[in-house]
Amino acid sequence: MAKKILVIDGSPRVGKNTDQLCDAFMKGAQEAGHEVVKFRVAGKKINGCIHCAQCFKNGPCSQKDDMIPLYDEIEKADMIVLASPIYFWQITAQTKAVIDRMYALYVAGRFQRKDTAAIFVSGGDADCCDEAVSFYKNVIINRLHWNDKGMMVCPRTSREGFELAPHLEKAYEMGKNA
Ligand SMILES: Cc1cc2nc3c(=O)[nH]c(=O)nc-3n(C[C@H](O)[C@H](O)[C@H](O)COP(=O)(O)O)c2cc1C
Repeated sequence: MAKKILVIDGSPRVGKNTDQLCDAFMKGAQEAGHEVVKFRVAGKKINGCIHCAQCFKNGPCSQKDDMIPLYDEIEKADMIVLASPIYFWQITAQTKAVIDRMYALYVAGRFQRKDTAAIFVSGGDADCCDEAVSFYKNVIINRLHWNDKGMMVCPRTSREGFELAPHLEKAYEMGKNA
């Protein structure tokens, strides 16, 4: 069945590793017949949640920034792909801001279960992605009960001899199997 897939590209760098992996995933998913859109955090302004509690009263989020159009995309999506570089052994602050702001949908009961997948990209060894992988497994899968459709890490981007191509292939296959 064709799905609407939203890829959240949590890298502030356009055209670099995470962004290219998102594109490879999208190519695979499009070829498999899915409708795919990418949301890049790059160039966007998405504040952290300020706990104003307006969403607890079933109101929309009080902050009028680039998260507003994204709420619509999140609600419409059957599947959400989280893609993030690793900064300080974690997902980027930009990615986390998007996730925290999803709380407005969660508390309003507008947060249905979705299919999901993740792509994490680190300059160092694969274990640099451990916290992000734990977050994906413990929060996205175990707490939100989203349906895991795949997770990949792309380590050692800062190391000599790093080649993105095999990881692009993996992301493409993940998209094909979305
Ligand atoms: C502020 C900052 C912190 C980083 N921290 C880590 C880290 O803790 N572990 C790691 O392996 N790489 C770390 N990196 C490297 C990035 O994960 C790596 O360069 C990655 O390829 C960036 O993704 P991009 O190429 O899509 O921009 C860090 C980079 C920046 C800018």
